[in-house]
Amino acid sequence: MPHSTAVESRDLRVSLGSRRRRVEVLQGLDLHIATGSITGLFGPSGCGKTTLMRCIAGLQHHSGDLRVLDSPAGSPALRGRLGYVTQSPSLYPELSIDENLAYFARLAGGRVDPGLLDTLGLAAVHENRVADLSGGQRGRASLGAALVGDPELLIMDEPTVGLDPVIRAQLWETFRGLAAAGRTLLVSSHVMEEAGHCDHLILLRAGRLLWEGAPADLLAGTGTRSYEDAFLAIIEQHEHPEHPEHQERSPR
Ligand SMILES: Nc1ncnc2c1ncn2[C@@H]1O[C@H](COP(=O)(O)OP(=O)(O)OP(=O)(O)O)[C@@H](O)[C@H]1O
Ligand SMILES: [Mg+2]
Repeated sequence: MPHSTAVESRDLRVSLGSRRRRVEVLQGLDLHIATGSITGLFGPSGCGKTTLMRCIAGLQHHSGDLRVLDSPAGSPALRGRLGYVTQSPSLYPELSIDENLAYFARLAGGRVDPGLLDTLGLAAVHENRVADLSGGQRGRASLGAALVGDPELLIMDEPTVGLDPVIRAQLWETFRGLAAAGRTLLVSSHVMEEAGHCDHLILLRAGRLLWEGAPADLLAGTGTRSYEDAFLAIIEQHEHPEHPEHQERSPR
């Protein structure tokens, strides 16, 4: 039976920089990501989202415990079971979408599912060079490269940035379909309003966990109507917990 936890961390820490100037980029994260769910990773620029994703993908040295699909992060057992879409495009611009996908499928030891191009809305441009695609098409082609091996865990760093609202909505639908099929998705975004598409939210600030839970609880707990306002309210509560208004909402 598959484990119900896809990612689990205890006291996850990362420090980067030179020996003279060490920066604690992740400062002791205890996280739990359920299998078959969409987890949104939110927080201001520089809070550590990409660093956390790199840890889970096995690309970042860290301390503390980090288990991914029941193995320690970075272990060879995880090869081909994770897909990672990096923040900057990672396709070969001189190759076509087809050629890129075939290449990444070979790396993952799988084949390109014939329906994948349709799912990503790229069927009409699959022979085009990546260099000639629009920004949105390029983003979806990158996602395709991470999907070719049919990974159990899909880590996507700001996959919707710069996309128009229609394509963004289509992508979230695609993500929902993947989660319904039992895949686990970890998606980072700057756009707080995208929190509503997720099952679970992780809010980071300066390398620490600020808040985690269900989107509806974020709105209810802060008495706000937008995720943007909710996020600001959480920061405010965090910085000024002694304020009477916050004490009422979070009794000790
Ligand atoms: N090699 C490095 N040396 C020193 N500091 C680094 C290094 N790499 C990243 N950092 C710092 O670590 C912090 C977290 O960076 P990270 O890329 O994880 O943030 P992020 O939340 O993904 O930001 P963004 O939303 O802008 O993508 C930042 O303050 C960044 O400057
Ligand atoms: Mg980042």
